[in-house]
Amino acid sequence: MSRVALVTGGTRGIGAAISLALKDAGYKVAANYAGNSAAADEFSRDTGIPTFRWSVADYEACKAGIAEVEAALGPVDVLVNNAGITRDALFHKMTPDQWREVIDTNLSGLFNMTHPLWPGMRERKFGRVISISSINGQKGQAGQANYSAAKAGDLGFTKALAQEGARAGITVNAIAPGYIATEMVMAVPEKVRESIVAQIPTGRLGQPEEIARCVVFLASDDAGFITGSTITANGGQFFV
Ligand SMILES: NC(=O)c1ccc[n+]([C@@H]2O[C@H](COP(=O)([O-])OP(=O)(O)OC[C@H]3O[C@@H](n4cnc5c(N)ncnc54)[C@H](OP(=O)(O)O)[C@@H]3O)[C@@H](O)[C@H]2O)c1
Repeated sequence: MSRVALVTGGTRGIGAAISLALKDAGYKVAANYAGNSAAADEFSRDTGIPTFRWSVADYEACKAGIAEVEAALGPVDVLVNNAGITRDALFHKMTPDQWREVIDTNLSGLFNMTHPLWPGMRERKFGRVISISSINGQKGQAGQANYSAAKAGDLGFTKALAQEGARAGITVNAIAPGYIATEMVMAVPEKVRESIVAQIPTGRLGQPEEIARCVVFLASDDAGFITGSTITANGGQFFV
């Protein structure tokens, strides 16, 4: 029987590549998204992967959304916490809303999604929780105090929960991508993008599929001895 994987923010960018790679690897996949129904419908049409709309920032909505996914596909074995947003501003200009929105989605989203799924994974003695952090959670980034704080928090969450899940057959890992060619990065002005690429030793942005392949590995039985770790995939831009 194929395992069930749920990918948050799984309809665009890195998440879309993850959803597709997991489907190709034989998983039954559900892709969640926040509000861009046009993109989600197109993704579903192109891939046959069902999409489900709710915000990972809302705990009750996550519980309801997960119930819907499980009714359609069965118990979730693999959770990929990928949904994320940026609300960049230098700290002296950052508003409380910009702080809150990023923390609610990029950090609390991990609690909101993992907490309802955790008891089932414990009971079934199998689970994979894979969260997409960021290079900027590891090294910090000016203009992203909110984002860097949330993404660093994702790594603490991963290490703590890995210790709780280990005896129950649940692994909890993170991936810290560097700059990947998605809408999020392509939206920054070309000059800024060029200066980013200049800092990457491989001389290029990463591709979403390169992150997706890390997820497929961490989800597999082959990765059963790996927990609490972070795969850094950043073209050599920053070594932890
Ligand atoms: N791109 C990079 O270079 C890079 C580097 C390091 C880390 N990351 C991380 O990788 C992840 C994916 O980034 P990306 O560049 O692929 O982003 P993206 O292209 O902007 O796509 C974001 C996805 O997340 C969904 N989403 C946003 N807020 C949500 C919410 N509250 N609830 C549910 N879904 C939500 C979006 O749904 P809608 O389509 O409905 O808006 C969309 O499917 C993020 O966590 C990001 O921080 C990205």
